[in-house]
Amino acid sequence: MKKSFFILLLIVNQHLAAQNPIIIPDTLSGTRFNLTLQYGTHPFFNGTATNTMGANGSILGPTLIFNQGDSVSINVTNQLNDTTTIHWHGLHVAPENDGGPHTTIAPGATWSPAFTVLDKAATYWYHPHLHKKTNEHVSKGIAGIIIVRDAEEAALTLPRRYGVDDFPLVLQTKDFNPNNQIVVPSNADDVAMVNATINGSLEVPAQIVRLRLLNGSSMRVFNVGLGGNQTFYQIASDGGLLSSPLALTRLPLGPGERAEILVDFSALEGQSLLLKSYAAELANGIYGATYPGLNTNMTLDGYNPNPLNGADFTLLQFNVVAATNNPVTAIPTSLVTVTPIPESGADLTRELVMSPVTMGLNQLNGDFVINDVPFNMAIINYDVPLNNTEIWSITNQSAIAHPFHIHDVQFYVLDRDGQTPPANERGRKDVIMVKPQETVRFITKFENFANNTVPYMYHCHMLYHEDRGMMGQFLVVDRIAGLGHEQGQPLAVFPNPASTTIRLAVGPEIQVQAVTITNLLGKTVFTVAAPAVATPIDISQLPAGVYIVKLLHQRGEASRRLVIE
Ligand code: C2O
Ligand code: CU
Ligand code: CU
Repeated sequence: MKKSFFILLLIVNQHLAAQNPIIIPDTLSGTRFNLTLQYGTHPFFNGTATNTMGANGSILGPTLIFNQGDSVSINVTNQLNDTTTIHWHGLHVAPENDGGPHTTIAPGATWSPAFTVLDKAATYWYHPHLHKKTNEHVSKGIAGIIIVRDAEEAALTLPRRYGVDDFPLVLQTKDFNPNNQIVVPSNADDVAMVNATINGSLEVPAQIVRLRLLNGSSMRVFNVGLGGNQTFYQIASDGGLLSSPLALTRLPLGPGERAEILVDFSALEGQSLLLKSYAAELANGIYGATYPGLNTNMTLDGYNPNPLNGADFTLLQFNVVAATNNPVTAIPTSLVTVTPIPESGADLTRELVMSPVTMGLNQLNGDFVINDVPFNMAIINYDVPLNNTEIWSITNQSAIAHPFHIHDVQFYVLDRDGQTPPANERGRKDVIMVKPQETVRFITKFENFANNTVPYMYHCHMLYHEDRGMMGQFLVVDRIAGLGHEQGQPLAVFPNPASTTIRLAVGPEIQVQAVTITNLLGKTVFTVAAPAVATPIDISQLPAGVYIVKLLHQRGEASRRLVIE
């Protein structure tokens, strides 16, 4: 008697639950865009107003539609009482347009980046990126979708009517306090939402529909699937279409990752289908599994108990209605030619190790670091010569999986622990999950943009980890001024940071006349005339700090920033 009553309640609840039509963000298109960052309130729960932040509204932001090749300009006005930044996640833009932590927008100020859209058709996103505040600003609501369109994609028979047969779905979890206010940071994110709508539903036509999935969560990994294990087809990864649609029943998505999928609703008119996270299938050692650490004795403050951890849960209910005019009725057999960069083309490999600051059973609470150093706004971790092709080898020496993200580029995954990656990771990516004890290698080329002072970031996209220092930065450095790109060689100072000696690398056509090192006060602390370039320069007597290395050559001078540790 008691039991059947309970079951009935559950059924009624489930039925009542998924009935909030989700928000579909407005679109902005053209070449001039205005975004205003503002405070607001949002009715996540009936009857209460939750304080939020949004762009051009109280939560999330409009979907920006860019065409490849267009020159776009954007005004981002900050009406918050807090400094912030806006980063175009996944787009290949110059560092000064990238919106990283150095490109701050003060309260009341407007930042106006302008750039040419060089990216391939795919789903990107924008979000704040102020150092130590990224988690707060994103969790409180600022995140928007960017759709890039290009000719290659336009030539395919794919759904692309926004809000009709093509929908952005921002998948997130958040933690709310008893007053229904967002708690950040928190490992107790027990409320799932799609487009800021809890227990959401979406009417979809009975035909092939495109879903642009973004994991916009601070921390949580979703294991996306459809009710009844219905097959869907992944057509794009973070930065471009795949070579052909991939039939899947599960798609793990880490924070920051995107995927476009096609779902065939044509036989389901009048019925419903659930979009779920099959988190019960997540291996331990992933945020979202029963145990967030590989070692099940490791605990993470606030993590358990949580009904979303290690349990399957619903993200969204699709209610299938009549088909539209001119529906897309078939899954294409092929998409685009994906041309990964061959491993043999690499100029060098950089090794990055992600590790907890303290090993042991409490390590999940962090902090985590990359190559043993926490992020420091004043330290450039790498100088990357412009046009270098590089392999980045990322090793995770911690007990929890981290989504590694790099700005400026899309990359191709070479291998996971030496094994060819799964088919859906063989396209263009800018975030890659690195599991505990795993090494993932990717290859990429640093083209088009160089700047000797404004760096790009790389970091863990679990926003608490990022804010706490699991981030680094690199400059893409141009060829020496006055020499053509083609003949010119980069001036590189290495290693950098350095502690004992440094060496210079310059092109053979350059006649070095002098090298000087100055400190940040402009005082020359080292100088040598007509040095033999290959000879190491002893810097062991110089105090730790930031220096400028200046090289005088026959056509002028070049300088690089050097960190002495
Ligand atoms: Cu989506 Cu550096 O960020
Ligand atoms: Cu990014
Ligand atoms: Cu992390």
